[in-house]
Amino acid sequence: MKKMYAAITGVEAYTPPDILTNADLERMVDTTDEWIVTRTGIRERHILKDPTKGSSDLAVPAVKKLLAKKGISPDEIDMVICATATPDMLFPATANIISDKCGIRNAFSFDLLAACSGFVYMLTVASKFIETGTCKKILCIGADKMSTITDYTDRNTCPLFGDAAGVALLEPNEEYGIQDHLLHTDGSGRKHLYMKAGGSARPASHETVDAKEHYIYQDGQTVFKMAVSKMADISFEMMEKHNLPADKLWLVPHQANLRIIEAVARRMGLDPARVLINIQKYGNTTTATIPLALTEFEGQLRKGDPVILAAFGGGFTWGSVYLTWAYDPV
Ligand code: UT7
Repeated sequence: MKKMYAAITGVEAYTPPDILTNADLERMVDTTDEWIVTRTGIRERHILKDPTKGSSDLAVPAVKKLLAKKGISPDEIDMVICATATPDMLFPATANIISDKCGIRNAFSFDLLAACSGFVYMLTVASKFIETGTCKKILCIGADKMSTITDYTDRNTCPLFGDAAGVALLEPNEEYGIQDHLLHTDGSGRKHLYMKAGGSARPASHETVDAKEHYIYQDGQTVFKMAVSKMADISFEMMEKHNLPADKLWLVPHQANLRIIEAVARRMGLDPARVLINIQKYGNTTTATIPLALTEFEGQLRKGDPVILAAFGGGFTWGSVYLTWAYDPV
């Protein structure tokens, strides 16, 4: 039997209309536009202000746009994965909520938690269901309303994050699609980037709220060093393993810090023009950064182009996926 690849056959994204600029942040905490831009590359980020809306509300418009663009009925989708670090609630899964809101009735759905590496982990999991012929149409959704876990009085973290969702449709393809993946986890790194309370080990209480333990805690420098070395290693290893030429390859990195992205690109010997970057407009949207970049730069990608997706995030988790792009711009 001919090998079947899992190909990305469409992407879409949604960012909420409200924008939080560096100038806004200058009025909220002791920071400057200059510090934020030189240390992170971020100029603004989109924020979903409505406190009654969650990550599923970011995902639903993206999914609906993708289904309309592809001319696919919700009934044709047979699996939905949502990677998120900010689920609507601890249970049920945000993927179930998205499926319901989009009228997807014939799919099984679940969430996947790998923080900023969620998109590469999720693509890898989904690809196995396509390669074995079990599923024909899978939605891989990265959705994070990071503003709900961001402390806007903490200058160390509040400039970094934004809200967004992105979605990729995976379908079987005889020629193009996901070729390989390299995924890693090191749970001992969990103390450097996490949310201290709100889970079963430390449930929400007056004390946890007063101590601001429902916000992101990050030891920025440690995470930065790990992100640079691990993301560069995993991307370079993939490039070498498949002999991918630097002048043909696209890198779609997780967008946490422009300096991390530039270090990875340097290690791979890539021209900056071959690296898809939009962190300046959105900040770190966690699981949504990669599909958001794919959507924005979809018009530059051609059928057969080699692409490496790479990410590093809380956990620690990190990984890369090598795929060949499956379609020309429409
Ligand atoms: O996506 C998940 C993975 N996450 C990441 O990859 C993020 C990794 N980390 C980073 O991107 C960077 O570490 C940060 C952007 C978070 C911080 O940049 P840094 O160059 O590592 O700065 P730092 O934490 O070492 O702080 C340098 C100085 C400190 O002042 P002193 O101690 O040198 O006087 C901070 O207090 O900058 C100060 N600082 C700020 N100053 C103005 C920290 N935040 C700010 C701020 N504005 N917003």
